[in-house]
Amino acid sequence: MKLLRCRSVRIVLDVTLLAGFIVEFLTREGPDYDLHSWIGVVLIPIIAIHLAGNWRWVTSTFSRRSQHPEWALARFNAVFSVVAAICLVTGFPLWLGWSDNGFWTVTHTVTGFASVVLSLSHLWRNRRRVLTLIRRQRAPAL
Ligand code: HEM
Repeated sequence: MKLLRCRSVRIVLDVTLLAGFIVEFLTREGPDYDLHSWIGVVLIPIIAIHLAGNWRWVTSTFSRRSQHPEWALARFNAVFSVVAAICLVTGFPLWLGWSDNGFWTVTHTVTGFASVVLSLSHLWRNRRRVLTLIRRQRAPAL
């Protein structure tokens, strides 16, 4: 848990996540769906670590709800998490050929596009936090 509070680790994780979502978008039409799918698989633990690193904020906003100044951001993040989770989960039946039901393709495609838009919006809405993280990183050690 101490590692998750390290700024360099957090920056690397956040940049990797953003790059991952963009690469997922760029590889969405194949031809190598294994590459697209494996990147998605690698993103799962990174998302879990990102969530774990911000879990205190998550529990604090959800316990105080509308009393918390960032309650709107917390709701937005919750929607983003659910949409991204649906996208990640629905990729598996497509990749592994479990079902040729068009439902999976439509759901994965819609939540995939939405996830990319929401990830950029998530970054924009957290821009002050990200800038603070980067600036503190650059500050000389005393
Ligand atoms: C956040 C992560 C992901 C995003 C943003 C994403 C996005 C997309 C999008 C937008 C498409 C539709 C392409 C099109 O027809 O225009 C697609 C297709 C596909 N994705 Fe993903 N995806 C993600 C994760 C995954 C994962 C984890 C897997 C597998 C485990 C996967 C497997 C596939 C497959 C097999 C297709 C082809 C579907 C078809 O047309 O039959 N994706 N993805």
